Amino acid sequence: NKKAVIFDLDGVICSTDKYHYIAWKAMADSIQVYFDENINHRLRGVSRMESLEIILERAKREFTEEEKIQLTEKKNQIYQKMLNQMSESDLSGEVWNTLKRLKESGILLAIGSSSKNTKLILERLGLKDFFDIVIDGNDISNSKPDPEVFLKAADSLGVPVEECLVVEDANAGIQAAYAGGFQTVGVQEAAGNEHTTFPVKHFDEIIKLIEA
Ligand code: G6P
Ligand code: MG
Repeated sequence: NKKAVIFDLDGVICSTDKYHYIAWKAMADSIQVYFDENINHRLRGVSRMESLEIILERAKREFTEEEKIQLTEKKNQIYQKMLNQMSESDLSGEVWNTLKRLKESGILLAIGSSSKNTKLILERLGLKDFFDIVIDGNDISNSKPDPEVFLKAADSLGVPVEECLVVEDANAGIQAAYAGGFQTVGVQEAAGNEHTTFPVKHFDEIIKLIEA
């Protein structure tokens, strides 16, 4: 029996993954580095700087640390412009109904995300004060596939790992949860991961899993 659900943010609660792609693509184009949707899959769940390192694998020259910081800042500016256009209407009915239903059942709800934009995104979606605990990229030293973000969330909730369920869309996130000993719900590409406990097609299937 589960007492808590820890949700990844990007690609689970909202579709910000498409904005990440557009922003990284603009950054990569500006330094003439090839980037496409396939490479973008490897950035899911991974921190901002680690994402840049993956993109720069295709660069024809080395970049200094200072240049790398500038490039991540440039990407983040483009990304935040899109985040600032988001509103409560970007939260799908299915996600909102599922979250509400879980909360009404007395399940504790947390966010475990590598993103440093987590608070901004939750605010835009009207979810600022909704979750019991929010652990994000500002609270951790190791991003997914390291289990730190989920372990910290479980610890802050005061719920043992075995009584938490982690919801993820990314392979790096499933690896992180698996390494931390969590059972997982996998949506989108994470539904195909060998370590995913419960692959689902629809987000609201989480309710059945919890109430079972
Ligand atoms: C999430 C996304 C990643 C992103 C990371 C850092 O985990 O899935 O694609 O790179 O957050 O996001 P940030 O908003 O801090 O740049
Ligand atoms: Mg994600």
